[in-house]
Amino acid sequence: MFSRFRVALGLALISAFVLALPVFAGGWAVIVLDELPTDVVAGEPLTIGFTVLQHGRTPMDDLDPTVTAKLSPGEKFVVKAEPGKKPGHYMATLIFPKEGNWNWSIQAFSMDQPMPVLSVASPANGVASQFVVKSEPAAEFPWLVAGGSALGIGLAALAFAFRRRSRLVGALAVFCLAVGVGLFAAESAVPEVEAQVKSSPEMLGGSSLSQVELGGRLFVAKGCITCHANNKVSNASAYWSVEAGPNLTKFFASPEALRLRLKDPASVNSNTQMPNLNLSAAEIEALIAFINSK
Ligand code: HEC
Repeated sequence: MFSRFRVALGLALISAFVLALPVFAGGWAVIVLDELPTDVVAGEPLTIGFTVLQHGRTPMDDLDPTVTAKLSPGEKFVVKAEPGKKPGHYMATLIFPKEGNWNWSIQAFSMDQPMPVLSVASPANGVASQFVVKSEPAAEFPWLVAGGSALGIGLAALAFAFRRRSRLVGALAVFCLAVGVGLFAAESAVPEVEAQVKSSPEMLGGSSLSQVELGGRLFVAKGCITCHANNKVSNASAYWSVEAGPNLTKFFASPEALRLRLKDPASVNSNTQMPNLNLSAAEIEALIAFINSK
């Protein structure tokens, strides 16, 4: 009898852990956007490309990634990405039905990677749309899945505990239910983007971004954030980091040293775990400005 309970408990614990953290179930991947989109106009197609690197290294083919864009809870669309020409590369064409500040994210492998908020211009204005300074990407997907899984397991364990009159499994059930409810509560506490974004001066003027702001967005879009936590990224808590590399919040280095590392990490450390992300010179300069900013 006891051993059965132990097996049940063990199984319940393992599945709770695995299901509540879907990202760990299949490992993790770095999603690297080809380039930050600019001048996005409602109704006009925008093609984006990105590469999926398992553990930041191995290009992953044969995935079915999707891109989700959301203006408000009721206004969102999902687009399937198609394989590109290079290994691990995918392309998707988005048509934003109307102007506004769109949250968007890429789902691939076990990841739901939020991208910097996109400001989409109305066709009438037509020009120079820019990203919005205060980004509030919706990082819903993993938490909803985790919360749902925890709730499901909790209910199953509760039923089991009831039938077997096991206090141990009962306690586990309560724990899972609490985790599930907690995750849902945390998710609904994430503020929506609209209110904040409307008051952003960036959007009104459509002025060009500073190097530091651009670098902050690249830090997200190029997947640096997946390996390096960095509190200077706007709305940093919305992003999940495996912390495979050091936290760069307080990091500072000479531009020369950073240039070498970002161009080719292996030139600085032949055993490096950091991938060469094929950054352009302009991207590297913006990233350096951001990394060394206060
Ligand atoms: C797959 C994980 C991964 C990704 C993605 C990644 N890095 Fe790294 N990075 C590392 C690791 C690990 C180190 C530690 C030193 C090493 O292995 O070379 C590092 C080191 C660094 C350092 C030096 C830190 C120090 O203490 O010396 C900087 C700066 C840096 N990374 C910036 C970036 C930037 C900017 C990006 C995005 C363009 C990026 N990294 C993407 C894993 C990653």
